[in-house]
Amino acid sequence: PPGCASWHSRSCTPTTANISHDSPMEKYSEPHIIDLPCIRDPRGNLTFVQNGDSRLPFDIARVYWTYDVPAGEERGSHAHHQGQELIVALSGSFNVELFDGVATRTFTLNRPFQGLYVPPGLWRTLDNFSSGSVCMVLTSVPYDEADYIRDYDEFIALSLGKNKDKE
Ligand code: TYD
Repeated sequence: PPGCASWHSRSCTPTTANISHDSPMEKYSEPHIIDLPCIRDPRGNLTFVQNGDSRLPFDIARVYWTYDVPAGEERGSHAHHQGQELIVALSGSFNVELFDGVATRTFTLNRPFQGLYVPPGLWRTLDNFSSGSVCMVLTSVPYDEADYIRDYDEFIALSLGKNKDKE
């Protein structure tokens, strides 16, 4: 769906939902914006997402959200081995930078009826949080520190290995 037609917001970087057939993670889609249902109402708009929804590429195992992020702060700066995510700007705006070891893509999230799908294996950094912004993340796995790659050099080494496999 087009979402809330009269939503008065800045633009959101458009992408297409291509499958990356040349990737070792070809079972996952590339990062892309997912439009969620938006029920417009004079009493206020409503958006929802639930397991089994064809728009959602995974079943939700966990939800977390960050808020009160001070101006100039960054969150994230890690990658996941397995966990898939849908990142939603419930309020305000922020940028999500995704790095696959070769190229970086930046998405600006500022619409509560859209989510950014993030497959595993990407180094993500969230920054440029507006005052009062709330970042909600739906994930496919319960919290497990073993799923995190927090060391940048380790991430680069892993992504170099994956890119070598492709050759
Ligand atoms: P962290 O991964 O640094 O947050 P982000 O990368 O999204 O900025 O997490 C901060 C702390 O919170 C860290 O000690 C792990 C803990 N945490 C949980 O206990 N459960 C969770 O679901 C998440 C996301 C983090």
